[in-house]
Amino acid sequence: TQHFIVIGNPIAHSKSPEIHAQFALQAGIDIRYQRQYCPDDAASFTAVIEAFFHGGGMGANVTVPFKQVAYDCCAARGGLSEHAKTAGAVNTLMINEALLQQGASIKEAIYGDNTDGQGLVNHITRLGWPLDGARVALIGAGGAARGVILPLIQAGIGSLTIANRTVSKAVDLVNELSAASSVIAAQQIQTCATKDLSGTFDMIINATSIGLSGDKLPLDDTLHCQYAYDMMYGRDLPFLQHFAARDAQTSEGYGMLIGQAALSFERWTGHKIDVAKATAALSQNT
Ligand code: ATR
Repeated sequence: TQHFIVIGNPIAHSKSPEIHAQFALQAGIDIRYQRQYCPDDAASFTAVIEAFFHGGGMGANVTVPFKQVAYDCCAARGGLSEHAKTAGAVNTLMINEALLQQGASIKEAIYGDNTDGQGLVNHITRLGWPLDGARVALIGAGGAARGVILPLIQAGIGSLTIANRTVSKAVDLVNELSAASSVIAAQQIQTCATKDLSGTFDMIINATSIGLSGDKLPLDDTLHCQYAYDMMYGRDLPFLQHFAARDAQTSEGYGMLIGQAALSFERWTGHKIDVAKATAALSQNT
């Protein structure tokens, strides 16, 4: 049996154990995947993951509020993938086997990756929404927005506009990521205030946390798109209602959750997941 955990605080609501159990069924392997509560401080997080990997754990998912702590932890130990580096956050932990073979201890070999942004791209691809050459507007400049920028550019989008309530945060984000990644630097990225976002885009993605507050984004009447995606899920999403009323195709972000989980599972076990099939099986269980 291979052991996995998802670490967060709170954690009781996490759907990851059901999702990974479905993947294991599809892959025909025996796993145990548990929710792991952790007190909200860096020392506790480090102690929990070190104990987990020392005990033979194969991989861990990291969720709110530990994704940045996990990043710092891996930066000082077994290293970070390029996606983790540009996201500034880690959602997937594993052991860097190459370092172990070079004589590192298990705790020195804890390595961080980030599959959130590629999970989004995979879901959009499953929806059949074309990304190649697409004119994309991304609303938000926090952690969630940051993690999807490199994967969207790698998917071949034509142009990217980042809109945020606080424009300076969008500008800072673009400058920081352009300095860190030549792939991002090569893409001309526009920035503006969310209320000033106007015109026609192929796709508009909401990466703000506004869905949690019940507030509405100030969306301009002249703003149109063919596809609207909200990274939130499982609640009323006024952002999607706004564009559905304007004839756009819409999607909430549950498929992104399954997409990132599938990529984590593949990195840990080497088994490729048919995500559409797993999603259908999961919806039958609920
Ligand atoms: P996350 O990790 O979910 O991205 P975050 O890093 O705190 O969380 O970022 C939250 C994002 O949602 C930001 O882009 C924030 O805009 P500001 O940078 O201007 O704060 C946006 N956001 C949150 N609440 C909002 C609201 N009520 N109206 C508009 N934007 C909001």
